[in-house]
Amino acid sequence: MAKDTARIVILYATAAGSTRGIAEYIGNALRERGAEVEVAAIGKAPDITGADAVVLGSAVHNADLLPQATEYIRDHHDDLVARPVWLFSVGLAPALRGPIGRRFAAVVPAKFAAVRDSLAVRDYHAFAGVMHRADTAWWARLVYLAMGGGRYGDLRDWNEIHAWTDTIAAALRLSTPTPPAR
Ligand SMILES: Cc1cc2nc3c(=O)[nH]c(=O)nc-3n(C[C@H](O)[C@H](O)[C@H](O)COP(=O)(O)O)c2cc1C
Repeated sequence: MAKDTARIVILYATAAGSTRGIAEYIGNALRERGAEVEVAAIGKAPDITGADAVVLGSAVHNADLLPQATEYIRDHHDDLVARPVWLFSVGLAPALRGPIGRRFAAVVPAKFAAVRDSLAVRDYHAFAGVMHRADTAWWARLVYLAMGGGRYGDLRDWNEIHAWTDTIAAALRLSTPTPPAR
């Protein structure tokens, strides 16, 4: 980057909090690499016109972004395309297993693909989120099982999230974190 400190805004749309957790994790990891990072709910987004990059994440509901994310992207399209954007989704599809599950997991929901393409994002990544068995209706559990899902709880893979964050840091040429002194 031309400047010494990269300014990164991370915006998230969440219904139950797991997407916020991922956004905060990415924010902390990028801060450790020397970036100036602001993490905010998309409904309370700061002005991004001074940002060197934006990371935007939404929970997946019914194969779509949450409405507040769709609205923000529509209203700030020009500001977003003017800078590098990384997009992530948080849903259950990446947690599906087996031959059928892997086929579902490989499909990018059309609404996310449309945003990915219209913003020409640097990268899009789908992360597994959180689903508690007790909160899931019996019929939804059956659908989930038939699709190759059987795991419940916090399915977020922090190693995968960390690895994706490293690719953002590398693209923005952030510093490598100093290992703690022994
Ligand atoms: C009403 C509802 C609809 C959902 N639809 C999908 C879906 O279409 N695809 C998917 O992969 N996950 C779906 N999920 C799972 C959520 O995306 C997952 O629980 C995620 O972790 C939620 O993120 P949040 O905690 O930030 O709200 C749905 C969850 C709910 C409650």
